[in-house]
Amino acid sequence: TSAPVVLGVESSCDETGFGIVSDGVLLGQGLASSARQHAEFGGVVPEIAARAHLDAAVPTLQIALADAGVELGDITHVAATSGPGLATAVHVGLAAAKSIAWALDVPLYGVHHLAGHAAADTLEHGPLPDESIVLIVSGGHTSILHVRDLVRDPIVHLGDTLDDAAGEAFDKVARLLGLGYPGGPVVSKAAAGGDPRAFTFPRALMRGGDAPYMFSFSGLKTAVARTVETIERDGAAVPIADIAASFEQAVVDVLVAKALKAVREKDLQTLVIVGGVAANARLRTSAQEACDRAGIELRIPPISLCTDNGAMIAAVGDLLVRAGAEPSGLAIPADPSAVL
Ligand code: KG4
Ligand code: ZN
Repeated sequence: TSAPVVLGVESSCDETGFGIVSDGVLLGQGLASSARQHAEFGGVVPEIAARAHLDAAVPTLQIALADAGVELGDITHVAATSGPGLATAVHVGLAAAKSIAWALDVPLYGVHHLAGHAAADTLEHGPLPDESIVLIVSGGHTSILHVRDLVRDPIVHLGDTLDDAAGEAFDKVARLLGLGYPGGPVVSKAAAGGDPRAFTFPRALMRGGDAPYMFSFSGLKTAVARTVETIERDGAAVPIADIAASFEQAVVDVLVAKALKAVREKDLQTLVIVGGVAANARLRTSAQEACDRAGIELRIPPISLCTDNGAMIAAVGDLLVRAGAEPSGLAIPADPSAVL
């Protein structure tokens, strides 16, 4: 029998993604984003995201097919994000995936969005080792996962955020500093010329005690807000670069410390970082230095695979197919608040 050709569909937030994977190899993908439509609101608006998925679905699928050089009829399996995510957004992609699977009479697999993120790096660097720690940092997630065999073993969710996600913290601080949206790129650009030690912002739960892998970023955001207010009240110029750099350093310190603690505590050799915040230069440098010191391998896929995309969902689908997993069937419900 020839290799499966798996179509992956992602629509859990503001990215409409289709990816095609065969035997662990990414054949091609298409991606559309409604990010610009949410800019004026400073965050993703679910109804706008869902409508944008509807508009983008067919054209983006066509781009993925052309990029992969395959016909729709060549698809042998379909995988789609069934959750977690914005309810209306998940529904659109899942309904599209069901329609395609039904029309082609091929099996459909529901995929957990975080399993997709964990699988993304396999498309760049090959199969994951037997065990690894995966740090997912984006506008929607801040999660530390203990991953073994992606389709045979349950993923263990070691921790996530009690309030804001890491990327969300960047977005909120960007708004506070009047820098625009999405916040990550503009804050790190502003931080480039700043002194990361100019302000001592809180590093919440750093020691962690009974919550070694939990994060909290809302206090950090409030501390930045108070600092800006105080400076403005004194009539002084707000040192944007120093505040941005000090904020960024506080986020990075916590992310790197907790991710490395998980790798060491589980006695593993590999840390994978994915999600939009993995684009952050200070995070990449700091994680690389810490991993080098600890003799740990650091894997970060290219940013196109770090952010939400259909290829990572296809990657999980491809693993499921090759492992002989049971398809979910066309009746699979969306599970917007899916847990691992
Ligand atoms: O993975 P992603 O594209 O979408 C989801 O949220 O699922 O991540 C977007 C997030 C945004 O919050 C954005 O501000 C953040 O990633 N981000 C960054 C950088 N580039 C994007 N955060 C820090 N530094 C960056 N260079
Ligand atoms: Zn995501």
